[in-house]
Amino acid sequence: MTSTSPAPASIRSYTVKPSLSRRFCVAPMMDWTTSHYRYLARLLSRHTLLYTEMVTTGALIHGDTDRFLRHDPAEYPLALQLGGSDAGELAHCAKLAEQFGFDEVNLNVGCPSDRVQNNMIGACLMAHPDRVAEGVRAMADATSLPVTVKHRIGIDGRDSWDQLCEFVEKVAGAGCRTFIVHARIAILEGLSPKENREIPPLKYDWVYQLKQRYPHLEIIINGGIKTFAEVHQHLAHTDGVMLGREAYHNPWLLAGVDPEFFGAPAPFHTPHEALRAMLPFIRSELERGVYLGHISRHLLGLFHGMPGGRQFRRYISENAHKAGAGLEVIEEALARVREPEASPIVTA
Ligand SMILES: Cc1cc2nc3c(=O)[nH]c(=O)nc-3n(C[C@H](O)[C@H](O)[C@H](O)COP(=O)(O)O)c2cc1C
Repeated sequence: MTSTSPAPASIRSYTVKPSLSRRFCVAPMMDWTTSHYRYLARLLSRHTLLYTEMVTTGALIHGDTDRFLRHDPAEYPLALQLGGSDAGELAHCAKLAEQFGFDEVNLNVGCPSDRVQNNMIGACLMAHPDRVAEGVRAMADATSLPVTVKHRIGIDGRDSWDQLCEFVEKVAGAGCRTFIVHARIAILEGLSPKENREIPPLKYDWVYQLKQRYPHLEIIINGGIKTFAEVHQHLAHTDGVMLGREAYHNPWLLAGVDPEFFGAPAPFHTPHEALRAMLPFIRSELERGVYLGHISRHLLGLFHGMPGGRQFRRYISENAHKAGAGLEVIEEALARVREPEASPIVTA
C-alpha cells in the first residue's frame, strides 16, 4: 500500500495531520506531481493541499492499483485526481481513494488531450453535465471523502456563462461542494494540451462571479497564478487558489506559503536545509531500486533564481542519469550553491 520509508524529523514532529484546507493548493500535473515531487512540496509547506497526477479509472481498475496509488503518508493532506466518466467505475475508485488514505477525491473535467477525449475523460465532459453529475453522485455515495471537481470555464461550442452555471448547478446538485476552476476555456479541436494552458484567455472575473452567485459553494481559482501578491488578490474573491506550473518550476515558493497564508512558521529557512532533510527519503527510494533521475528531475527548480541555481541544475542534469548514480550526485550539486544566511523565500 503506502510506502514505509520514514518521514524526516521535520515532518514526523507534526503528530497531528494538518486539517484539510484548500486556501492554497498545488495542481495535479501528469508526470510532474509524482510522489517524489509531492514529498518535496510537503517538506516546504505543511498546509498546502497537494494533488496527485490524474489516474484514469480504467488504469486503477485493470492495472497495477498499488503502483498507481502509492504515496508516502508524509504527503498528507493529499487529494487523488481521477479521470473517468463511468459512474460505477468512479464509485469503485472513490472507495479505493478512501481505503488508501487520501483526503479527497477529485474528478478531472479540464484535461483537453485527444487521448482522454476519446474515452470521455477530461474537458469534453463539460458538454455532459448530467453525466458528470451522475458520476459525482456515485462517488459521493461510495465514500465519505470530499468529492471535488476541477474544470474549465467552458469548451469550444459551449462557452457561455449560462452553460457554465448549468454545469456547476447540476454537479453541485449531485453532492459536489468544491469546484476548482481553471479560468479559461479549453479548445478541444486544434490546440494541444500545452497550447490549451496558454492561448485561451484567462477570465478570472468569471470565477469571481461564480463565487458571488453561489456563495455556499467553495470556489478555488486556477490558471496563470505566479506570485503571492496575485494569490492575495484572488483570495479576496474566492476561497482558495491552485498553482500549477509556478509551484513546479519554482518549488521554493512553497516555503513561504505557511507563514503567508496559514500563520504558521516556515518549515525551512533555506532550500539547502530542505534538500538536506530530503536526503534520507531519497536514500530509501534508491535502496528500493528507484532510478535517481526519477527523483532528481523534480529538484531542478529548487534554487531557481538564486546564485548557483544554474550550476545545481546543470550538475544534476549531467550526472543523475549515469549508471549507478546515487546520493553523492545530489550532495555534489548542493555544494555548488552557496548557502545564504538569511531566508531568501521568494514571495514577489
Ligand atoms: C505538465 C502538466 C500536466 C498536467 N496534468 C494535469 C492533470 O493530470 N490533471 C489536471 O486536472 N490538470 C493537469 N494540468 C493542468 C494544471 O492542473 C493546471 O490546471 C494548469 O497548468 C493551469 O495552472 P497554472 O497556470 O498554475 O499552471 C497539467 C498541467 C501541466 C503543466
